[in-house]
Amino acid sequence: MKGIVLVGGLGTRLEPMTRVTNKHLLPVGQFPMVYYPLHSLVDAGIRDIMLVTGGNNPGAFLELLHDGREFGLDHLYFTYQREPRGIADALRCAQHFVGDDYCLVMLGDNILAGSIRPFVESYLDSAVGAKVLLTEVPDPERFGVPEFDEDGNITAIIEKPDQPPSSYAAIGVYMYDQLVWDILPTLKLSARGQYEITDVHNVYLERGLLTYDIIDCGWSDAGTPQSLFRATQMMHNSDFLPAPNSPPRQ
Ligand code: G1P
Repeated sequence: MKGIVLVGGLGTRLEPMTRVTNKHLLPVGQFPMVYYPLHSLVDAGIRDIMLVTGGNNPGAFLELLHDGREFGLDHLYFTYQREPRGIADALRCAQHFVGDDYCLVMLGDNILAGSIRPFVESYLDSAVGAKVLLTEVPDPERFGVPEFDEDGNITAIIEKPDQPPSSYAAIGVYMYDQLVWDILPTLKLSARGQYEITDVHNVYLERGLLTYDIIDCGWSDAGTPQSLFRATQMMHNSDFLPAPNSPPRQ
């Protein structure tokens, strides 16, 4: 399975902190934000990882992470999204890297206080379709929100609904088979001018190929001042921290 960490976008919700740097380089406790999703992927056993960046200072990721040795990796791959056209568009930039493999996509501003390894293993056991991870949140209207039937099956995922159909959020960790590459070119731009990852999941759902797990650890996004603060507090009290095993070379 290949790993993709999305670290593009303009980070406008964190202005002015993102005016001269990329959101995913901002500190969350002891580490730059991007360290946490990288740690999540490496902890899950994924060793081939591509970062998709965009906007200003793309070279800063190479300067910060070098070849990934700090995370015990042999190599890191980088690419660039030319325009900030959303998560699904950023994913397209990594198609050549994934090849015939499965992939796990993690949003660079999603911070987890525990391992996703069991969910990755359960996906790879059947390795069919897509899997999303859910968690209960107090403010679902900020996220992609699943609607359930009485048997607990997802019937739709709605992006930032005014009237959330449940109190769950689809967190920014997604697992896909090859079908994703057929779906991406069929997407239409949303009202906010983005190719929405939620639209990808609804296509999988229509085909009966979407599964989900509910995560059992702390989670926060870090894309607004409030959630960045919350993520920092959560990781201050967490044992699930990136543990870089050697300083990067000079
Ligand atoms: C994105 C996704 C949304 C998901 C969220 C998780 O939202 O579109 O479905 O719940 O990430 O962080 P965005 O950060 O683009 O507002």
